[in-house]
Amino acid sequence: MNIVKITEKADGPLVIDGQINLIDARRIEIETHDKTRLCRCGMSAKKPFCDSSHTSTDFGAESGQSEEEFLNPKPVSRRREYLGSGVKVSFDASLCIHVAECLRLMPETFDLRARPWINLENADIQKVVDTVRACPSGALRHELDDEDSVKIEPESQSPTIRAWRDGPLRIKGEVEIINKDGETVMKADRAALCRCGASRNKPFCDNTHKMIKFTAST
Ligand code: SF4
Ligand code: FES
Repeated sequence: MNIVKITEKADGPLVIDGQINLIDARRIEIETHDKTRLCRCGMSAKKPFCDSSHTSTDFGAESGQSEEEFLNPKPVSRRREYLGSGVKVSFDASLCIHVAECLRLMPETFDLRARPWINLENADIQKVVDTVRACPSGALRHELDDEDSVKIEPESQSPTIRAWRDGPLRIKGEVEIINKDGETVMKADRAALCRCGASRNKPFCDNTHKMIKFTAST
């Protein structure tokens, strides 16, 4: 199976190469073909698709460093690891979009007030894996000593991209994400990609859409 590639075009859309399931913010499934262009500047009138609005706006701060980016630089990606018996969980804070699924599903293990905040001692492995797989951004990942020690629900063959109302594009299913410089920045089965145009961590969402009160109903 060819892995679906998602490429961030410099000053332009996200180009998806390969078959995907696309769901808009109204939860309506939209037909797509083998190449799909999705808006990432936030300006398209045909969201989630790109309608070339980026060409008539000043979207493209990536071409040079703006004063704001200088004062407020891109977060550094660093994955920390937490060891349990039979399972290892890693966390990259630069990808976390703070929807708190982990805190809600497994507060005994994921606790922001504790140090370390992920404590896998005596944790149920199946619950850990289910919680990590509920993380929409890919900030959390797991590795198992024995892949057969837990049950993982099979996913549909093609990845699903769902436009979140007033928020990012959520990816579920194996994809390769390539940045505007042509570098593969992630190969994973979960990610949240910016579509408001304002993230400091493009192509990933960093929750700036909330700050700028981004709206997108489709
Ligand atoms: S994005 Fe992942 S790690 Fe961050 S709060 Fe949500 S579930 Fe937890
Ligand atoms: S969609 Fe742009 S920061 Fe979340």
